[in-house]
Amino acid sequence: MKTIPHEKGLPLLGFLPEFRKDIFAMDKRLVEKHGNICSYNLGPNKIVLLAQPDYIKHVLQENYLNYKKDYFYDELKLALGQGLVTSEGDFWRHQRKLIQPAFHRNEITQFAEIMERETKSLAGDWKNNERSNTIIDLTEDMKKLTMKIVSQSLFGTRIFDNSAKLSESINYVIDYLTQRLERYLKLPPNIPTPRNLLFRRHYNNVRDHLLDIISNRHENPGDKKDLLFMLLAAQDEETGLGMSDQQLFDEIMTLFMAGHETTAHALVWTWYLLNLHPYVESQVHDEIENLGEGINSVFKNMEALPYTRAVILESMRLIPPVWGIGREASEDDQINGFLIPAGTTVYIPIRRMHRHPDHWNDPEKFDPDRFLDGTLEKEKRWVYMPFGGGPRQCIGNHFAVLEVQIALAVLASLFQVQINNIENIEFNPGVTLRPKNRVLAKIQVKKVRDSQNKP
Ligand code: HEM
Repeated sequence: MKTIPHEKGLPLLGFLPEFRKDIFAMDKRLVEKHGNICSYNLGPNKIVLLAQPDYIKHVLQENYLNYKKDYFYDELKLALGQGLVTSEGDFWRHQRKLIQPAFHRNEITQFAEIMERETKSLAGDWKNNERSNTIIDLTEDMKKLTMKIVSQSLFGTRIFDNSAKLSESINYVIDYLTQRLERYLKLPPNIPTPRNLLFRRHYNNVRDHLLDIISNRHENPGDKKDLLFMLLAAQDEETGLGMSDQQLFDEIMTLFMAGHETTAHALVWTWYLLNLHPYVESQVHDEIENLGEGINSVFKNMEALPYTRAVILESMRLIPPVWGIGREASEDDQINGFLIPAGTTVYIPIRRMHRHPDHWNDPEKFDPDRFLDGTLEKEKRWVYMPFGGGPRQCIGNHFAVLEVQIALAVLASLFQVQINNIENIEFNPGVTLRPKNRVLAKIQVKKVRDSQNKP
């Protein structure tokens, strides 16, 4: 058996300080020094870093049943229960089979109309901002937008927007989870600290509200073909049974949580890169202007926006909202003759793979052209992984790309988004890869032809 090169870190802490200081610099250093595989300690946890496409494929696809989601996901269970992100084994497989059809490429096109409508509503607000010359917080606006899109797609209404109390509760649940996920040392959630108690109260409020909606839908299914409708209709092929209400709630919370923040950050980072690359930005504007009347219903003209799509894929290469994946080996395994003992955490450094010089020409360059002919995504299957890979690949990948493409096209058709503090934007790799500071942007209305889009 071959020995995995081990980096010796500090006693007890291992590489925790370096990891916290700059995980991306650390990934780069380790991959340059050791190549495909190496190990190190983060506190008491042994981590094996994998930077080779075949090794990654092994973990995410070939032997994925041996690699469970790591300890990080246990925290998520507090709010997501047994939803798709956090469940495992046969239960997960069964749920994935039930839910997958709702995210089929053909099904999600019906949500494109919602994406466009909600973006136009934001555009209306931006027009007012521009008149009063306000500077907006881009991350906040993108989050509000993606939250509205995902709740409209799930329930056919902007549910969290309609009630201040419910909105406060869902925001508390999100903040609480984010903080727990990003803290290394924390008290167990069942200790009655004020924060833990408050979390319980807000979580119960969201749960009661959503269970009420589910129960009303059982009684009056109505004719809305939203995601909730599809989830309610989903039945096991053999038994004919659907999901319990608690399971429906877990899945709804999961789709809501997994579906909005990642997408919001994909949008923010795309604006950021466009600001840094005026030539690419002008190409995007040209492509959108060439849509002519088509801009009035972007969702019907997606095939006319190949460059915008390539920009989004390239943006997620350089700045992937999910920057790494962790798994824990259930049993001893071997990867190309290296022993992976049971209990080891394996780490797939998505962002590093996206910039790995063995796999990309000019890896640090923002060059959307590389995605233009549409073949690269498949060709680099285990190198380019903004949505993960294998059976547990993101269920919302088509939904997300469609959403970012529509939002970008609608907003760029009307506005020039100029980030004021571009020089000071830093990266914060937490649950998602987000900006450390606020992204402040000035919104300028473009001079558009009369026939063009009006929110
Ligand atoms: C740009 C936006 C998005 C990015 C970058 C992203 C990324 C990812 C990644 C990397 C995974 C795999 C995690 C792992 O293997 O540990 C994942 C899983 C998942 N994502 Fe996304 N995601 C995005 C948008 C969405 C949307 C819009 C939805 C739903 C509306 C969604 C729902 C899910 C779910 C349910 C899973 C778990 C799938 C399973 O384990 O079966 N995501 N996502």
